[in-house]
Amino acid sequence: MNEKIAQIVQHLFSVATEVKLTRPDAAFGDYATNIAMQLAGRLGQNPRDIAQQLQAALMATGEFSSVEIAGPGFINLRLAAKSLNDNLEAHWNDQFGDSQDGAGKTAVVEYPSPNMAKPYSVGHLRPGNQGWAVKKLLEATGWRVITDNHLGDYGAPFGIWVTGFLRFSSEAALERDGVYELGRVYIQTKKALKEEKERGETELADEVQSWLIKLENGDQAAKDYSERFNKISLEHIHNVMGRLKISTDYEMGEAFFAPRGKEAVQKLLDSKVAVQNDDNSIIVPLDDYGFDVPLLVQKSNGAALYATTDLATILYREANWHPDKVIYCVGAEQLFYFTQLFAMAKKLGIQTELYHLWFGTIDQKNDDGTREKMSSRKGVVLMEELLDQAEARAKQLTADRDVSDDDIKKIALGAIKFSDFAADRRTNILFDWDSIFALSGFSGPYIQYAAVRVNKILQDNVDVTGEAGGYDYEAEKPIIVRLLDFPAVVSLAARDLEPHKVAAYLYDLARDLNRYYETTRINESEPAEKWARIELLKKVSFVLTRGLELLGIEVPTRM
Ligand code: ARG
Repeated sequence: MNEKIAQIVQHLFSVATEVKLTRPDAAFGDYATNIAMQLAGRLGQNPRDIAQQLQAALMATGEFSSVEIAGPGFINLRLAAKSLNDNLEAHWNDQFGDSQDGAGKTAVVEYPSPNMAKPYSVGHLRPGNQGWAVKKLLEATGWRVITDNHLGDYGAPFGIWVTGFLRFSSEAALERDGVYELGRVYIQTKKALKEEKERGETELADEVQSWLIKLENGDQAAKDYSERFNKISLEHIHNVMGRLKISTDYEMGEAFFAPRGKEAVQKLLDSKVAVQNDDNSIIVPLDDYGFDVPLLVQKSNGAALYATTDLATILYREANWHPDKVIYCVGAEQLFYFTQLFAMAKKLGIQTELYHLWFGTIDQKNDDGTREKMSSRKGVVLMEELLDQAEARAKQLTADRDVSDDDIKKIALGAIKFSDFAADRRTNILFDWDSIFALSGFSGPYIQYAAVRVNKILQDNVDVTGEAGGYDYEAEKPIIVRLLDFPAVVSLAARDLEPHKVAAYLYDLARDLNRYYETTRINESEPAEKWARIELLKKVSFVLTRGLELLGIEVPTRM
């Protein structure tokens, strides 16, 4: 339609221009454009005159049921439902919604990047959900996407693990509880180290240090522990990611980049971006970027830091993947750090767009009504516990029906993931079991149920045949207009890296659909009418399924 109007503009005014259409309130029309006002300046004419000429030409096409001018020159367009459906048919294909906006461009998306020392907690839920959705959105819009799990697998944890294991644990406990025992040992040892420090002693700290040195020197026992603990932790991470149905192409953590840190720091020194202090530590001053705190890239003892491994990571990605954009899916707590890191990269001459895709916390409501970051009596909420609980809830929800375990898992994940997209990702989300499973509100299961219901209607009507023509589609108009919006929604969500726009769209579509069922009895339709309706519902099913897929959510077979 945009192209059609552009052609008319070209014909009437001899100017080539792009015509943007917006969706006004349904009371005004199906689409609106401010093209007349835009042209007014360029043509030196009154916008209302331009709008009137366009109005006449548009009406003459016979495609619009009304063309109205509002205010200083807005044009509101209304189409017959049948033409809208023709439009939808004309644009329809099995990749409806996809585009080539990002063709030829490469993005690196980094998620969920958990830390190895402790079990996977809800702290890494949003990085995974948002990262996965962003990957799907970019792929849908033609980008080449490389995903990388930047594991927190470097530094002191190893020494703490071994020391703690030898003192506070046992083979039997490790055998039984795996990563949860390692996590417990880690926390207990950290606490013991803190107490020791307060007493002014260093025995435990020395032991931690000695294991790190042993590992560096290739000591066999140290290597064995390291391999064994890492394996336990990594298997756990993979298991949880499997349950979350997310994966990455690469898994290059801090430990992989730490040895490359020295070279990166040298590069900083050579290019005079960094300076060495008297105590041998190395810093990058960032006052020219408005930070009075410099970024520390090497400790006085020569050890690499978080920023050092991150710098080495940036250089590695530049050299090997040549990305146009690198997206870090990490919580808001690291906002300041990433601003500093990106400033340092700029100083070093890195041109690639580095983007911190941050999000708010997951909060819970306390009994007294106040909000705080989600936690459990034991501390952090473990991801596996959350998933188990969600599955139990999904089971309850479908208790009186015959729903497979596989479907229950899909519903559980649908509920958890969709809540991540309830609002702009920067806002803190309120996690509330009842509302994330609400079958009548903004929830994953609500959308999944809409899809399951459409699919059921389709199954019941596989034999319906018919042909195009005849039907006016008036009852379906809101749905058709909504379906036509889908490609633009995906494009925008991908451009702005805002998957919640897809979620909001799906919710609107599911609501349109429920209103439609209230007024239209599909099974009681005339044959020709029924066929037309079924054909449209196939498209609805496609868009619901695809939209959810972009958010990492599957449609159950039954629910
Ligand atoms: N492992 C880190 C954490 O859990 C997140 C890593 C983020 N990515 C990065 N390149 N620094 O806090």
